[in-house]
Amino acid sequence: MNAPSAETKKREICRLMAQANTWEAETEALFDQIGLLPGWRCIDLGCGPVGVLSHLSQRVGAHGQVIGFDEDPDCISAAESLIERKNLSIVEIIKGNLFDNSLKRDAFDLCHLRFVFNQEGCDQELLQNMVKLTRPGGIVVSQESDWTTWKCYPRQPSWSKLRDAMITLFKQSGGDINAGLRTFKMFHQAHLTDIKVRSAILTMPVGHPYRSGLIRFALTMRERILAAGILTESAFDQHIEACQQMIKDPSIIIFSYTLTQVWGLVRS
Ligand SMILES: C[S@@+](CC[C@H](N)C(=O)[O-])C[C@H]1O[C@@H](n2cnc3c(N)ncnc32)[C@H](O)[C@@H]1O
Repeated sequence: MNAPSAETKKREICRLMAQANTWEAETEALFDQIGLLPGWRCIDLGCGPVGVLSHLSQRVGAHGQVIGFDEDPDCISAAESLIERKNLSIVEIIKGNLFDNSLKRDAFDLCHLRFVFNQEGCDQELLQNMVKLTRPGGIVVSQESDWTTWKCYPRQPSWSKLRDAMITLFKQSGGDINAGLRTFKMFHQAHLTDIKVRSAILTMPVGHPYRSGLIRFALTMRERILAAGILTESAFDQHIEACQQMIKDPSIIIFSYTLTQVWGLVRS
């Protein structure tokens, strides 16, 4: 497969930024329930361009520390711009691979990961790495999606076709975009304790900034969907066009995917 074009990479960064904004209130609700404390040392693994860096930074305050960890140079430079723009002086970005275990064990009070368990090979081994990074009694946090709820009413065939094409693409590449269904069980299998879960679905009327989220996501995956033969070029473009018309229709309601948030304590 060819490397993604510069345009596709730019779209992906914008998509991740829009997605992070969309889930801001739910991230706050999650961290309220967890009860983060000032002075904590936290890490956001696979932080992307935004992740939850600002939320963590605000909560742990001037005596805390936040690390954003990612391997992608474009995400890292976007995250560094965010740090500068928002003056997040306690946040540092480290470039690295989630599986190379170069970070210190037991170093963090809280280890967070969002929208990464959906990728190929990201399962118990990655969760074990999160556990290793977290001190005994510290908190491991996951936020993942379940796309089966990402739908509209009345049902629109093009919407379902695009969504299902992306679910298929994730499956074909060994990933699972519905990883949010599995994380609660994974936390139990990893012997975390005091495991909690909450979930959220948004309703997105005309004007909601994430109403076009599915279209944006599909456009970042266009080259891969076509290369995998999941949709033809003309079918893909037709579905995009139909969805772009559809989201302008105020009588059509769109529901988001489910965001599943799970957290648990590392045994002392
Ligand atoms: C879908 S994005 C999610 C970004 C961010 N967590 C958020 O919720 O906005 C997945 C991120 O994980 C990073 N990532 C994926 N696999 C990785 C790996 N093996 N090592 C380091 N980063 C990885 C990607 O570069 C990307 O920034």
